[in-house]
This record gives sequence, C-alpha cells and structure tokens, in this order.
Amino acid sequence: MWFHKKLRIAILISGRGSNMQAIIRAIQRKEIAGKVVLVLSDREDAAGLDFARKNGIPARYLYPGSFKTKLDGDAELAYIEAIRKSEADLIVLAGFMRVIKPAFLRAFAGKVINIHPSLLPKYRGLHTHRRALESGDSETGCTVHFVNEQVDGGKRIVQARISILPDDTPETLAVRVLKKEHLILPKVVGMIARGEISESDWSDEPLLFEE
Ligand code: GRF
Repeated sequence: MWFHKKLRIAILISGRGSNMQAIIRAIQRKEIAGKVVLVLSDREDAAGLDFARKNGIPARYLYPGSFKTKLDGDAELAYIEAIRKSEADLIVLAGFMRVIKPAFLRAFAGKVINIHPSLLPKYRGLHTHRRALESGDSETGCTVHFVNEQVDGGKRIVQARISILPDDTPETLAVRVLKKEHLILPKVVGMIARGEISESDWSDEPLLFEE
C-alpha cells in the first residue's frame, strides 16, 4: 500500500498570525504535504488563534510566565509538553516574540524554524526595518532560518530581497517584506515536508527566492 506521511507542523504565534495563515493556505492548496496539528500563542488575544480554530486546527493560548521576552521555566515545560503531545515533526515560529532557550531546543533538536524580517545576519532582533533605513541600505528582505541558541543566528535557509525606495518608511517596508515572508515561509515548510533539507545537512548559505 502506498503511504505518504504528512509532515506534522506546530506553529507558535504572538499576534496576527499572517505567516501562520500562509502555511495553512498552502496546505489547503496542496502545495505542502503537511498538517498543522497545533497552534500555540503566548497572547490570549492573538487574532491568529481565531483563524486557526475556524480552520479546524487545535489552537490555544498557553500562559508564558512572568517574563516578557522569554518563557519562564514552568511555562517552557508546558510548551514543550504540549508540542510533544502533538507529535509535531516541525515547529515553526511565525511571529512568536520570545527568545527560545536551550531546553526547548534540546527537546526539538533541528526541528525549529523561524521567519525573520531582515536579510540575516543583518539586524537580528527587533526594529529591523527602521535599522535598515537608518543604515542607508539599498535593499532589505526576510530570512527563514533554523533556530539555534543565538537569537536569529541559526543556519539560514531561504531569503527574499526587496529594494528600499527613497520615500520608504518602516511601515511601508514592513508591508512589502511581509508579502515576501508569506512566500518563503510556506516554501521552506514544503521543502522540509518533501525531505529536501535537514538542519544537520544544511550549510548556512541561504537560497535566494525569486518569483
Ligand atoms: C512578521 O513580520 C515576522 O517576521 C515577525 O513578526 C511578524 C509577524 O507577523 N517576526 P504575523 O503574526 O505572521 O502576521
């Protein structure tokens, strides 16, 4: 009997969840042989939770603890436990605004990817569009990368570029970069679902996405 295993995907969000939506829609269009088995949010009011639930995906807020930028010990364990139970093969950080710590990474070694709105290694962390403008860069973009213990520092997988125009603002850049994010994140999830790449075999040389 032919059996084609679907990639089981857990997605972590903190807000709007438009990158999560891009993955769900790509699965619905059968561009990814996968299934989103769990969506977790560290914010109760994340709009993305509603979209996931309306699409029949188990989605819940999970208390992140008292820290603002990371999960505290007990909360981290709760996240690890929930993801383990979902039997996810891949964990996608899609606008999840917390630093991922070693215990989490050890639990899911090589299985965590992130979307970041800059051309890494430029502008790790926050306010990427403002920093690109202030530096006078002529282009910016976004990167999907494997997650390691350095913030936004893991092996880069795919990047997409856009030109910076004279009257751009952080807001206009965010809009154009986000459109590219919605293309490259499902692309990478599809590559992983087809078994084309794995963290251990991948170099840090990103593929350049061209439409
Ligand atoms: C995206 O720009 C992502 O790169 C950044 O946060 C934003 C999340 O957007 N880390 P959304 O929640 O996926 O709409």
